[in-house]
Amino acid sequence: MKAVVIKAFGGPEGLSVVDVPAPEPSAGEVLVAVESIGVGGVDALTRSGSLAAWGFREGLVPGSEVAGTVIAVGHETDSSWIGQRVWAFTGLGGGYAEQAIAAVEDVVPLPTGLSAAGSVTLGGSGVVAHFGLKHARFSSGESVLVRGAAGSIGILAVHLAAQGGASAVAVTTSSAARGELLREVGATHVLDRSGAGDDTAPPAYDVIIDVVAGPHLPMFLDKLRPNGRLVAVGAIAGPPPVDLGTALMANFRKSLSFATFSADTVPPAERRTVRTAQFAAAADGRLPLVIHEQLPLDDAVLAHQKMQDGEVFGRIVLEPA
Ligand SMILES: NC(=O)c1ccc[n+]([C@@H]2O[C@H](COP(=O)([O-])OP(=O)(O)OC[C@H]3O[C@@H](n4cnc5c(N)ncnc54)[C@H](OP(=O)(O)O)[C@@H]3O)[C@@H](O)[C@H]2O)c1
Repeated sequence: MKAVVIKAFGGPEGLSVVDVPAPEPSAGEVLVAVESIGVGGVDALTRSGSLAAWGFREGLVPGSEVAGTVIAVGHETDSSWIGQRVWAFTGLGGGYAEQAIAAVEDVVPLPTGLSAAGSVTLGGSGVVAHFGLKHARFSSGESVLVRGAAGSIGILAVHLAAQGGASAVAVTTSSAARGELLREVGATHVLDRSGAGDDTAPPAYDVIIDVVAGPHLPMFLDKLRPNGRLVAVGAIAGPPPVDLGTALMANFRKSLSFATFSADTVPPAERRTVRTAQFAAAADGRLPLVIHEQLPLDDAVLAHQKMQDGEVFGRIVLEPA
């Protein structure tokens, strides 16, 4: 079957389309004939090599979320999965391929009304946004800033905060046009990447959901209200500087909290419950599904080039067929 591998860490050109044997499901796994593959910021980090310490190595087929039809199951695995249209999390990789393996606990049936392409903009990101806000102990009436809001995690965090009764939902983004799109999903204030640019925005927030991290993260601790919580759900700009702790302690009298959040710490049954509810909401049009562009699997390099050039709002979806 056709797949995309990381031939060499670095830029998008390190990705290569190759022919590999189709994978075979083991016990507790299904094999999915892939229709749609979600391309996210984490795939760019994987390709670059910056996640090598976490097991994302050269030679890996990247991609962690796909949707399609189950065509086989491992031994002692419920055969009623066969023929079902599903969304599936493929783990560390394996997603950029015509066929992909997933553990049954990470497979969710697609409801009528939710396309395969739509599901791969939501399945991974929606859970991160939901549980990231929960990790931040967000409650109705509080103000929220989403930093790096133009990706699928950010878009869903904005929408869920607004739906959850936030008193204000500010976003950071690099363009006014993106700001307008973010207003459509619930943003009330649009800031530039430094957190400035709207004099009517609250001076500080109860909760910051940060997809970016990187060298400027400590500046955003100053944008927390007393008892404010900043939760880093991503690190698109790399790790924060080593003096992050100093910046936190400099705000000692504000009783601030800094936390990281990974969906890996959410029990699989809870992830499934939230995903299933979010898929139903999306099928009814109650959750936004932002597909930037659908491209053939053969164009994986182009998809990553577009991410690198900062062109992507929401998600690019790759399609094998
Ligand atoms: N917590 C978890 O369990 C979990 C799960 C999956 C992925 N992740 C993490 O989530 C991140 C990817 O999320 P995503 O796919 O939603 O994001 P994304 O689409 O890669 O990026 C979101 C936005 O961030 C802004 N941005 C990019 N580089 C920036 C920089 N250097 N400084 C400031 N802003 C920048 C860009 O918007 P503008 O140009 O408009 O500013 C971009 O559109 C990765 O770090 C990944 O590891 C976490």
